[in-house]
Amino acid sequence: MEITEQLDELMVCRLDSGQRKVQPGSLVIFGASGDLTGRKLIPALYHLFKDGQLPDPVRIIGVARREKSTEQWRQELRALLDQFSRTKPVDDTVWNRFATGLFYCQGDQTEPATYERLKTVLSEPGVPALRHNLLFYLATLPSQFAEVTHHLSQAGLLSRELQHGFRQKVVVEKPFGHDLVSARKLNDELTLYAHERQIYRIDHYLGKETVQNILMFRFSNSLFEQLWNRQTIDHVQITVSEKLGVGLRGVYYEEAGALRDMFQNHILQVLALVAMEPPVSLEAESIRDEKVKLLKSLRPISAEPGGRQVVRGQYFAGQVAGQPMTGYRQEPKVRLDSHVETFVALRLYIDNWRWSGVPFYIRTGKAMPLSASEVRVQFRPTPNVLFAAQCGPRLDANALTLRLQPNEGISLRFNGKVPGTSLAVRPVRMHFSYNAEFGAYTPEAYERLLLEAWADDATLFIRRDEVDASWTLVDGIRQGWADQPLTNREFYAAGTWGPVAADDLLAQTGHAWRNPQPMSA
Ligand code: BG6
Repeated sequence: MEITEQLDELMVCRLDSGQRKVQPGSLVIFGASGDLTGRKLIPALYHLFKDGQLPDPVRIIGVARREKSTEQWRQELRALLDQFSRTKPVDDTVWNRFATGLFYCQGDQTEPATYERLKTVLSEPGVPALRHNLLFYLATLPSQFAEVTHHLSQAGLLSRELQHGFRQKVVVEKPFGHDLVSARKLNDELTLYAHERQIYRIDHYLGKETVQNILMFRFSNSLFEQLWNRQTIDHVQITVSEKLGVGLRGVYYEEAGALRDMFQNHILQVLALVAMEPPVSLEAESIRDEKVKLLKSLRPISAEPGGRQVVRGQYFAGQVAGQPMTGYRQEPKVRLDSHVETFVALRLYIDNWRWSGVPFYIRTGKAMPLSASEVRVQFRPTPNVLFAAQCGPRLDANALTLRLQPNEGISLRFNGKVPGTSLAVRPVRMHFSYNAEFGAYTPEAYERLLLEAWADDATLFIRRDEVDASWTLVDGIRQGWADQPLTNREFYAAGTWGPVAADDLLAQTGHAWRNPQPMSA
């Protein structure tokens, strides 16, 4: 180890031992044949196992309808792991040990007999914890969440009452409802069979290192937090763009659209972390309390047609990174006259002391020029004297960019003198890059989330009142749309930064979008 690395290591303040305290137990995945299981969950579990982070002993049981043996399931998962593992090649010795803990339980989730079979698998010989500590992962259709928990409860596998020595938890995937009414109904149904503290609602953005780093960045440094308010910040831009189109997810997307798919969950969570007040402690409930307060301070929007605060968009055929891409309406299972939004841009205001009057511009879309998620904090310009008086708008204001993905890092943009005998000023950048500083190791969001759920830490999961607050905002926006068709100004060619109307949205308040660059600030 180099001396500088040793010094860096000495400066590390560890808030935990690096190893979560996880009890031995069984993880039961409903939807075991689905995409999420093969692409995300099993690779995450394999890496946790490889790093010695999974409880010992552990048992992972997949439940799905298709007829197959445990051996076949293991082989299928191995092939998918070869494809989706973040480390390659897959370590055969580790896999062989890991695979001995994988079991398949065939059955229809709607039939009680399936749960009897599951009980049989769970009661196989082994340490009692494998029967008593149960984590049920619902990677199923959202419409099945309530039914599965009902059956689990009927079969005596899930109980709301705390029983000594028994731990049972339910992890649910998004989307959690499709509006406030359905989310509340789902919550009511789930809490018939499981206590709120047993329910872990996933938002995989919260498992991303860079999203977790927002809290560290804000509350372990004194420099920026002092500037983090309406006195110094002019506005904030959050962009989550994706190169991919909707592809084979037409059925789901026709129901969801960008507002429900990305804004209601991932983006509002990022926004809450960026803008919330300091929590009283690092406990899950303290952090979640502050997020809820922030979400409740968002000024409700009614998106009138023509959109003064919200702009929708939909891509038509174009080129993304030099490759032709078909239009949204030509994607499989999408209606030819669909008005579902594949892009949304909003101007939000947070009506609290800290942020009063500061616009938060949000945009997310599919089929955009590049995939990037970033938060750009734009500081106020200098007073209009000296350089500003001479340069006018050409003197760039300072900006801080939190690059959530890719090229994870933080950049600060400020002005400096251009070397030479003439007097010239231009923006320069200071970069922190995760890869350069820490190496390329970045665990997948699902690794962190599975571990936290297992360790009973709910910090990275969404609480019921957060769900309510975000749907309240989203419902208001959708009501404003009231089935209005998209206008011409709301269509955009695949491979562009969204419709013209999105530019107008910022122009109304004298601002302009700053598009993510590979290393922008
Ligand atoms: C999912 C959305 O929740 O997040 C997808 O349903 C989207 O539409 C994905 O592509 C983006 O996640 P990430 O981690 O690739 O930014």
